[in-house]
Formats: sequence, structure tokens, C-alpha cells
Amino acid sequence: MELTVPQSIQTEHQELHRELAGALKAGGHTGECARAVMKVIQPHMAREEEYVAPALALLSAAAENRLTDDMAVFLPRIALLRGELPRMRREHATMVEALRELMRAATEERHAGIARVAQRLVAHAQEEEEILYPAAILVGEALKQRFGKT
Ligand SMILES: [Fe+2]
Ligand SMILES: [Fe+2]
Repeated sequence: MELTVPQSIQTEHQELHRELAGALKAGGHTGECARAVMKVIQPHMAREEEYVAPALALLSAAAENRLTDDMAVFLPRIALLRGELPRMRREHATMVEALRELMRAATEERHAGIARVAQRLVAHAQEEEEILYPAAILVGEALKQRFGKT
């Protein structure tokens, strides 16, 4: 079995990435701010897809008590998540700061659509911190419990 990034996360990341890429073409201060956001977001999303997404791929199995023996192989990889979380949270803080700049610039330069994209990205980061990261940690805990490691 392979761990695939849950479809909803993949789609949301692709959409946000595509819309941000569009904002790069706006030029002016808006374009510069969008570039600053992109610089942080690209490695950040890659890290999430490497460390958070695999745990979330097992979320429904864990929630419905359907973890099977073959899933034990994912334990070491999912265990890395806790170590990576502080960095991902710091990246969110940097991202949100850059996104607020982007919102200001886009509003000033009358790119209402781009300001909305920036706002969605802020909400995305918040949703991850409030729901997805904790859910991923719980999957790690469920795996540890199921396969008897502490
Ligand atoms: Fe994300
Ligand atoms: Fe994130």
C-alpha cells in the first residue's frame, strides 16, 4: 500500500498555488509581495505533503478502527511529523506576515481578486494549525498505540 496525499488537500494546494502564480504577473508592489509569499510557500507545501499528508491519508482508517498490520511500516515516517511541526508553524507565521503585506498591496493597487487569494491562504494556514496538524498528530498516536510502540 502507498500513502497518497488526500485528494482534498492536493486540490486545495494546487488551486492556491496556481492562483498565487497568477498574482506574480500583476506587477507593481503586488507582484513583488506575491513573489515573497511564493518563496515561503513552495518549500512549506512540499514539507506538508511529505510529513502531514501521509498521516492524514490514514485518518479515516484510524478514526474507524481499521488500521491494519501492513500500515505499521508507516510508523517511522509519521513519527517524523512531531519534529517537523515547529518549523511548519514558524513558516506559517512568516507566510501570514507576507500575506498581510500582499493583501495591503493588492488592495492599494486594486487587485481585489489577489487580495482574496491572500485571505484564503491565511485561512488555509489557520485551518491547518487548528485541525489538520492536530489530526495528523492523532493518527501518529493511533499508529503507536496499535503497533505497541511508545
Ligand atoms: Fe497547506
Ligand atoms: Fe501550511
